[in-house]
Amino acid sequence: MKALVLSGGSGTRLRPFSYSMPKQLIPIANKPVLQHVLENISDLGVTEIGIIVGDRLPQISAVLGDGSELGVKITYIPQEKPLGLAHCVSLARPFLGNDDFVMYLGDNMLTGGVQRIAEEFAAGRPAAQIVVQKVADPCAFGVAELDAEGRVERLVEKPKEPRSDLALAGVYFFTPAIHAAVDAIEPSARGELEITDAIQWLVTEGADVRASEYDGYWKDTGRVEDVLECNRTLLDDLKPHAAGQVDENSTLVGPVVVEEGARVVRSRIVGPAVIATGTVITDSYIGPYTSIGKDCVLSDTHIEQSIVLDGATVSEVRGLHHSLIGRSAAVVPAENDTVHHRLVVGDHTRVEVAA
Ligand code: DAU
Repeated sequence: MKALVLSGGSGTRLRPFSYSMPKQLIPIANKPVLQHVLENISDLGVTEIGIIVGDRLPQISAVLGDGSELGVKITYIPQEKPLGLAHCVSLARPFLGNDDFVMYLGDNMLTGGVQRIAEEFAAGRPAAQIVVQKVADPCAFGVAELDAEGRVERLVEKPKEPRSDLALAGVYFFTPAIHAAVDAIEPSARGELEITDAIQWLVTEGADVRASEYDGYWKDTGRVEDVLECNRTLLDDLKPHAAGQVDENSTLVGPVVVEEGARVVRSRIVGPAVIATGTVITDSYIGPYTSIGKDCVLSDTHIEQSIVLDGATVSEVRGLHHSLIGRSAAVVPAENDTVHHRLVVGDHTRVEVAA
């Protein structure tokens, strides 16, 4: 079995971050989503992984390389335009050959892994095995209708009036039967070749298409709120480890990771929280569910339930919460001014100030 990971696309819902980095590299618990994805795939014993990439290939390959650090072999497959998930399958045909494969959307987190579903697929070897979970807002997803045995009766991509609350999670197991389906379908109303339509084609042709309900935590990390929620969930399992320098005037409470090369001075950190290497925290309070990336400087700051990306500076700001602060961003007090706010804010950025 091989794996196909989809890491192209434009990531418009994650602006402004997606202007400068592929959304699949956003860190969750200080590790890029794509790395979590590859670890789940490697846990299945799958080592040949094709990754569909758009114009962000240099950034993605700088992080993942040839995969050897993760014990896998990566083949990058360029996609000029995001023409749809089924388009990715047809681009990857030479890589996939006639092998069965797991297709994994590079922005999806399934924190308990997909081992059980891989076993179900291997046991029954249906033409396609999809993963579903009940959601409150099915309109935002592919939606599946199943019979009593878990066979798929109907699939619709982002229906306006969903007939079920079972959303398709971003992991699919396929036999080579999917290739005829991908060749047969036409672009959808939004101009994309939808994998949902290709699987529906298999259903219509009478192929065996099954669904497994995922009982673990699943999140499409397409929006800032999803990234923060997913970060909270992952940090819940954090094992404390203080390898960095923590001075005697600082306290760490609960599960806190201070990586080697990080420094904590006269500060209080209440976990779960993780502080990456090269970061210096001074006279600050870091509250629960916070991930601070590498080489950040936080001073005289109170922050919780937030993610701070590498190289950011935050000083003299108290009461920051549920925030996502980008790479090398600066959140600092106005010079010689205690009354006015001065903002230099990039396109599609959102700033919420206490009014
Ligand atoms: O997250 C689950 C949902 O993912 C499913 O419920 C939907 O049925 C499925 O269509 C998909 O919907 P999204 O609208 O969330 O897909 P998105 O455009 O975010 O693309 C998913 C991943 O695939 C993302 O990592 C970008 C990548 N991609 C996307 C397209 C359209 C590509 O690599 N190439 C593409 O052409």
